[in-house]
Amino acid sequence: MKTIPLGTTGEDVSALCLGVLYYGNRIGKALSYHLMDRYVDAGGSFFDSANIYSHWIEGFRGGESETVLGQWMADRANRSRVFIASKVGFAYPGVERGLRARQIREECEKSLRRLQTDVIDLYYAHVDDRTTPLEETLEAFDGLVRAGKVRYLGASNFLAWRLEMARMISRAHGWAEYVCIQQRHTYLRPKPGASFGDQISANDDLLDYVASENVTLLAYSPLLNGAYTRADRAFQAQYLGPDSDARLAVLRAVSEETGATANQVIYAWMVQSAPPVIPLMAASDDAQMTENLGSCPSRDPPDGGERRRADDGEPGVARGDAERGADGAARWGGGVGARAGGRGYLSSHSLSVAAIIRHSHSV
Ligand SMILES: NC(=O)c1ccc[n+]([C@@H]2O[C@H](COP(=O)([O-])OP(=O)(O)OC[C@H]3O[C@@H](n4cnc5c(N)ncnc54)[C@H](OP(=O)(O)O)[C@@H]3O)[C@@H](O)[C@H]2O)c1
Repeated sequence: MKTIPLGTTGEDVSALCLGVLYYGNRIGKALSYHLMDRYVDAGGSFFDSANIYSHWIEGFRGGESETVLGQWMADRANRSRVFIASKVGFAYPGVERGLRARQIREECEKSLRRLQTDVIDLYYAHVDDRTTPLEETLEAFDGLVRAGKVRYLGASNFLAWRLEMARMISRAHGWAEYVCIQQRHTYLRPKPGASFGDQISANDDLLDYVASENVTLLAYSPLLNGAYTRADRAFQAQYLGPDSDARLAVLRAVSEETGATANQVIYAWMVQSAPPVIPLMAASDDAQMTENLGSCPSRDPPDGGERRRADDGEPGVARGDAERGADGAARWGGGVGARAGGRGYLSSHSLSVAAIIRHSHSV
């Protein structure tokens, strides 16, 4: 699987990060193992969990997602070959919401135990906490890095100005900084002023910020729970309106033209962004895993004159690059299209991204 640099860390991570939110709870252990195996077989190594996953599912209290990920890593003896992220900050049974120093330290210990590891590769502040001084939170996170319990720090559900404030404070003190931001983000844009409660959607400010500051954007809920392709799923009201209608028409056209599914086009569009956006990929069964993995090229296109650049995008909007084969057709190496016999999905993949950008500018 193609890899993407994680902020300024010097670390390359999988272009598709597997979100394991429902693994070990709604999705049982055997299927969770199978899906994680499939992701790894496809070259993926970046896993996303959180302490609270998924306490809202009936019969669960939170921590089950980390637990199944930890068991799987132990059984597969692959801890050194995977890159794991977890989070702290939201409430779950027995734990209050917030980013107080004590809470960060205690929750990290619990996550380490559940994950059966002595270090978390990427540890997020899951939500901004306006009631705790940033200094207290950031010093505590830095302490975890210094203690070797956490390698890198990330933020999630922060506005750009709060993220910058946090980073400036960390920098002033010589503390570890947030290297990435995980935000709600998809191809459709929420209506102006739309709220998702605690979930903060990536806006123009943030897209400009990440492009300028070399902070990596990770997109959660990129498929809007399957609503792009499934009759049994509806778009939330926050996404309904003329802007989305126009964008959906583009997506439909690009999908028909390339034979790629709308979901694949969205993942590919993110991964090929400049700077790249890492989608949090979720898959609950084999068919979803096959389709979603099919969106990602297995390696980077070559540098130099062979590269084909699509229109420049607005900040955070994709540009399409593709390797060109002997016949001059754009190609992605090694990926697997979801539709057997799909009409040239791989060969026209860059076209899908270029087209989506062109049309995005006109809507
Ligand atoms: N930082 C945060 O606050 C935050 C918030 C939410 C999520 N996350 C992270 O982001 C990850 C993904 O979030 P999400 O679940 O909201 O993502 P999503 O992309 O909006 O939705 C994923 C869901 O869509 C369906 N799906 C997936 N692939 C499909 C396909 N090819 N065709 C049709 N339906 C498909 C599945 O639903 P069914 O299972 O019902 O079939 C799957 O659970 C999570 O696992 C978690 O790691 C983070």
